[in-house]
Amino acid sequence: MRLLFVCLGNICRSPAGENVMNHLLEREGLASRFEVDSAGTAGYHIGNPPDARMTRAARDRGIEMKGRARQVKPADFEEFDWIFAMDRSNHEDLLAVRKRCANPTAQLALFCDFCEGHDEREVPDPYYGGPEGFEKVLDLLEDGCAAFLRQWRAGELPSAP
Ligand code: 4NP
Repeated sequence: MRLLFVCLGNICRSPAGENVMNHLLEREGLASRFEVDSAGTAGYHIGNPPDARMTRAARDRGIEMKGRARQVKPADFEEFDWIFAMDRSNHEDLLAVRKRCANPTAQLALFCDFCEGHDEREVPDPYYGGPEGFEKVLDLLEDGCAAFLRQWRAGELPSAP
C-alpha cells in the first residue's frame, strides 16, 4: 500500500504526515506493508529539509522528521494508492495534476475526512503562525493516520471509483 501526503511547500504538514504515519506503522509492525512519501504542490522548497519548527514539535512527540522536499508530479497518480491533500486548495491543485496523468489510479482524498476525533475539514497551514499551529497539525495527523490504519485493517476503506 503506497501513501502520498501532499501540502503546499512539503516542509511542514505533508512531511509531518509521512513521518507520523511511518511512526505508527513501525509501532504497529506494519512497516513492511506500506510505503509512505510526501510532496508539495509548489516548487519553492525543493530539496529542503522539513521546517525546524515542525521538526521540533514532532520530536517532542517522539517522532523523527526525515525527508527532503519534492514537487508532486502526474506520475504520482499511477505510483500511489492513496494521495492525501492537507487542505482544499491542495486538493484543487492535485485535480489539475491528475489531469496530466495518462492512467491515474490513486484515490485522492482530503486527509481530514479520515479524522475521527476532530471536526476540522482541513489541516491548516502553520507556516506564518505560532507554535500552536504546529501542534494542531500533529493532532490532526495523529488522529487521521491512526483512523486510516484502523479502517484499512477492518477493510473499511472506500475502493476505487
Ligand atoms: P506546508 O507549509 O505547505 O505545510 O509545507 C508551507 C511551507 C512554505 C510556504 C507555505 C506553506 N511558503 O509560502 O513558502
